[in-house]
Amino acid sequence: MENIKLCFIGCGNLGCSLIGGLLANGFPEKNVCAVDLSESQRQLVSERFGVEAIADAGQGLKDADVVILAVKPQSMQQTVTALATMLAKRQPLVISVAAGIETAAISRWSGFEPAIVRAMPNTPSLLRSGAAGLFANSRVEEHQRTLAESILRAVGMTIWVENEALLDCVTALSGSGPAYFFYFMEIMEKTGIELGLTEEQSRNLVLQTALGAAKMALESDLDPQELRKQVTSPGGTTEKALAVMQEHRLEEIIRLAIEAAAERSRELARTLGEPH
Ligand SMILES: NC(=O)c1ccc[n+]([C@@H]2O[C@H](COP(=O)([O-])OP(=O)(O)OC[C@H]3O[C@@H](n4cnc5c(N)ncnc54)[C@H](OP(=O)(O)O)[C@@H]3O)[C@@H](O)[C@H]2O)c1
Repeated sequence: MENIKLCFIGCGNLGCSLIGGLLANGFPEKNVCAVDLSESQRQLVSERFGVEAIADAGQGLKDADVVILAVKPQSMQQTVTALATMLAKRQPLVISVAAGIETAAISRWSGFEPAIVRAMPNTPSLLRSGAAGLFANSRVEEHQRTLAESILRAVGMTIWVENEALLDCVTALSGSGPAYFFYFMEIMEKTGIELGLTEEQSRNLVLQTALGAAKMALESDLDPQELRKQVTSPGGTTEKALAVMQEHRLEEIIRLAIEAAAERSRELARTLGEPH
């Protein structure tokens, strides 16, 4: 891994988080090259991380073993098309973090089938607490899988899916998932205020409870259902609250919401992958 040369195409929020995470894990800065169109972003990247930050993607790709595509999905077609000749010549592993861009679209824009790992990370990656689903196309070799995994692990946990269509499910679960938990927190906070707490008191209690519950679920040998049962005393307050949630079909609402997100992910992939 130490001798591997990485080239980031696009160094905004996610690109910077990945670089920061890799360097913090001991990856040598001399082996990272950051390519970004924005001059201010290049300056920020070279000052913050001490890595080479340039505008010319061709130069960045010259000796790269891994190219990480971290531009907005809408910029992917133009970006990949511009890199196609260099990709064909150098044959690096391509890692794409662009939401909704399928590996087939990247191959089509490249004019050949590169070794591609497509990752679907989420926003907590910016705090190195992300969760990402990874898919490798058939050109990816075993050592490249390991490489891609260690790069994405710099900003959180990873899982592999063997069928690319499952990335729509990853998108619906962990990609959009932070917003579901934020919504839950938002509603709990509002209700706490309505019941008489100050905004600060209510928010602090809710956020710490969310953190504590996630920590317990992560660290315990018990699954979330069992943990829930353990804190639900017969005839108590928790039992009463959960009964109201069940009566109003919370489970069905959440299931429908996640299914709708997965369907929207499929629709977006179709639109983003079309020629434009
Ligand atoms: N942020 C997240 O938490 C997150 C989570 C999951 C997935 N993602 C994915 O990660 C990708 C990047 O997201 P982001 O939030 O990091 O976006 P961002 O902050 O907008 O960063 C993208 C950067 O790439 C630059 N750029 C655009 N075209 C380029 C090109 N052809 N060559 C070099 N640089 C180029 C942009 O410069 P200009 O601004 O000058 O165009 C910008 O600085 C997206 O595809 C997104 O779907 C992000």
